[in-house]
Amino acid sequence: TPITTASETNAMALSFEVLGRFNRARAARLTLPHFLCQTPLFMPVGTQGTIKGLTNSQLEDIGCQIILGNTYHLALRPTSELLDEVGGLHNFMNWQRALLTDSGGFQMVSLLHLADITEKGVTFQSPVDGKPMLLTPEESIQIQNRIGADIIMALDDVVKTTITGPRVEEAMHRTLRWIDRCIAAHTRPHDQNLFGIVQGGLDPILRDICVKGLVERNLPGYAIGGLSGGEDKNSFWRVVAQCTAALPEDKPRYVMGVGYPLDIVVCSALGADMYDCVYPTRTARFGTALIPEGVLKLKHRKMADDTRPIDPSCPCMVCKNYTRAYIHCLVTKDAMGSQLLSYHNLYYMMQLSRNLHSSIVEGRFPEFVCDFLRKMFPNGD
Ligand code: GUN
Ligand code: ZN
Repeated sequence: TPITTASETNAMALSFEVLGRFNRARAARLTLPHFLCQTPLFMPVGTQGTIKGLTNSQLEDIGCQIILGNTYHLALRPTSELLDEVGGLHNFMNWQRALLTDSGGFQMVSLLHLADITEKGVTFQSPVDGKPMLLTPEESIQIQNRIGADIIMALDDVVKTTITGPRVEEAMHRTLRWIDRCIAAHTRPHDQNLFGIVQGGLDPILRDICVKGLVERNLPGYAIGGLSGGEDKNSFWRVVAQCTAALPEDKPRYVMGVGYPLDIVVCSALGADMYDCVYPTRTARFGTALIPEGVLKLKHRKMADDTRPIDPSCPCMVCKNYTRAYIHCLVTKDAMGSQLLSYHNLYYMMQLSRNLHSSIVEGRFPEFVCDFLRKMFPNGD
């Protein structure tokens, strides 16, 4: 009699075809219910169901394939009941391409310092009326099922990487216990993909237990969590390298909350596929543009009479139409300044994603990485 394996019982709503490799780096086609994505892939973060200051058609022009929403924010407003009523977040925001929602716990812990984690879930004070509230793994999944994103994230117990000791181990084991509650609560495995999140801080033994535990559950994809929290680059890259080496070859790997362009290049070389970060849009609101040489501060006095585009080598709408001097003029006075910068910065991140993908497929990944590093660090440091 055939043995029924987990892979036969777990429904999946994605396919992940690796199109090319270079050592550990891979380029793949990730087919989601709403969109066919190419990896490595940067996912812009839209907190309230929008990427601040950009329209859907601009996001499509830039080449955004999947955007991120936060369960915690969406549950408070417009509320998951309303989203359910209108047929989910895709309909509510009129976005036809893919969506991913994070489970909410991380945002509560990082935004509301009053959040407290117990075995039941994450307890926090409502920002609406100050009443104590509880987000359980079951509720997080129920809300995410109503939101209807292509990829939903398990509720995890996240601790800062700068914390050490028994709390890190407790959080990792709790994350494994909660994944089973998330799997049991998930009502839409046929059209929503539940990703598990590897925790375990900077401890290789804890990371190993967590990876093995999640892989046994045969999920459609895996995230590496608990990073981007102030750890040094060597520890960060070591954890990513360890996790990608142990995760299955045929499933997407998502490094959460990462990151800077350099981090995305390094993590892609280490075999990661997906990234999200508020950095490109947040830094835009502070007047900073991403360019191949690093960053360009548009608020700086010397921009006032600089009639070049942000990046003369960038083919985006902003660089084709506007000067540094014009954006300098807008940047503190009109929302258009940060909107134009967000557009260019997201274009830069999507271009980076496309370049990583095509250089891996075309067998010239090392040349691409050398070129990227030479522009960013011209003096070799
Ligand atoms: N965003 C950035 N890091 C994390 C993490 O570890 N867990 C979750 N749920 N979201 C994140
Ligand atoms: Zn540009």
